[in-house]
Amino acid sequence: MSVNISIKDLVKKYGDTTVIPELSLEIKKGEFFTLLGPSGCGKTTLLRMLAGFNSIEGGTIHFNDRVINQVEPGKRNIGMVFQSYAIFPHLTVKGNIAFGLENRKLSKAEIASKVDEILKVVQIEQYKDRMPKNLSGGQQQRVALARAIVIRPDVLLMDEPLSNLDAKLRVDMRNAIKDIQREVGITTVYVTHDQEEAMAVSDRIAVMKSGIIQHLGTPQEIYQRPANVFVATFIGRTNIINGCLTKEDGHYHLHFGVEYVEELTNVQLPASEKQTTLDVKISVRPEEFIITEDNTGIKATIVHSVFLGQNTHYFVDLESGQRIEITQESKTTHILEPGQIVFLKVKRDKINVYDATGELNYTRGGQL
Ligand SMILES: Nc1ncnc2c1ncn2[C@@H]1O[C@H](COP(=O)(O)OP(=O)(O)OP(=O)(O)O)[C@@H](O)[C@H]1O
Ligand SMILES: [Mg+2]
Repeated sequence: MSVNISIKDLVKKYGDTTVIPELSLEIKKGEFFTLLGPSGCGKTTLLRMLAGFNSIEGGTIHFNDRVINQVEPGKRNIGMVFQSYAIFPHLTVKGNIAFGLENRKLSKAEIASKVDEILKVVQIEQYKDRMPKNLSGGQQQRVALARAIVIRPDVLLMDEPLSNLDAKLRVDMRNAIKDIQREVGITTVYVTHDQEEAMAVSDRIAVMKSGIIQHLGTPQEIYQRPANVFVATFIGRTNIINGCLTKEDGHYHLHFGVEYVEELTNVQLPASEKQTTLDVKISVRPEEFIITEDNTGIKATIVHSVFLGQNTHYFVDLESGQRIEITQESKTTHILEPGQIVFLKVKRDKINVYDATGELNYTRGGQL
């Protein structure tokens, strides 16, 4: 059975240092939920609080209607997978997976049937009699995953489970984890600092900084309408350009310096904002620039280019001296040369406009 997790005003302190100040969060039954953020932001700390390995200095954690603050780790019915596989070297694959079931007073036949079933789910049946040292990293991690889910936990917790694997295997394994989670339907809390991995596997993501959730949303929401400049720069790549936003007769105009102005219809200012000219930070992802042939737009100079097959990546200097990055679909004809002057426009429905502090996104909605 899987559960809803309800976290309310949760506080974690180490001595006098508060690592998580009053965090609240609802994770839905069966959801694949990811905690994403830079090193030291509190991801592992929060996961360990869910598991019962960390004390709780304030607030509550519910699994469905039950407060689990005081419940011992062994009684929370949790499956865990860590970065290090932590499988028993002296037991075979089968032995490792059966281990958690043997404490549960099941008959030998029941254990064998459950182990066989999970071996199929994680696709390691052919290795069931091998010792862990004779398995690859990816295969060992499948054993760790099988061992965590065979007990039918209410919650599956995973802390950077793929970070010891090479790049290709990481992609294969993240797809496998997503498929397996969908099949077994366990509420899953997944920790990573790899934003692409988070987007690939998650139903929803919480982006954290210093123990505080900065943005909670679907991968698409977080990528396309990041709540603040921190989230915009942490998820994917982006360029932050200073500009100004003017409001006249209900129309909003975005000024990139003096030479380029775009009208935006998807901007909403707080009702309290009375100024008609505001300094803003504009987030333009590399793929949201258009390099134009005509002489209008933001004037820029090509510094160098990297051909990546489908796309070409350009590093470009603006007249202000700011260096920005642009990706364009590669053409069969030519690549722009260093020193060449170009003019840039933006895909105005995609860019994001923030207040001068970078904390508030003025842009709304998907389409213009
Ligand atoms: N046992 C501890 N005692 C004191 N401080 C700790 C302890 N464990 C973690 N911290 C501190 O708490 C903060 C959050 O650590 P945590 O391990 O949760 O980060 P993380 O987001 O998992 O980072 P990473 O991506 O590097 O694994 C860090 O500043 C860390 O130094
Ligand atoms: Mg960690």
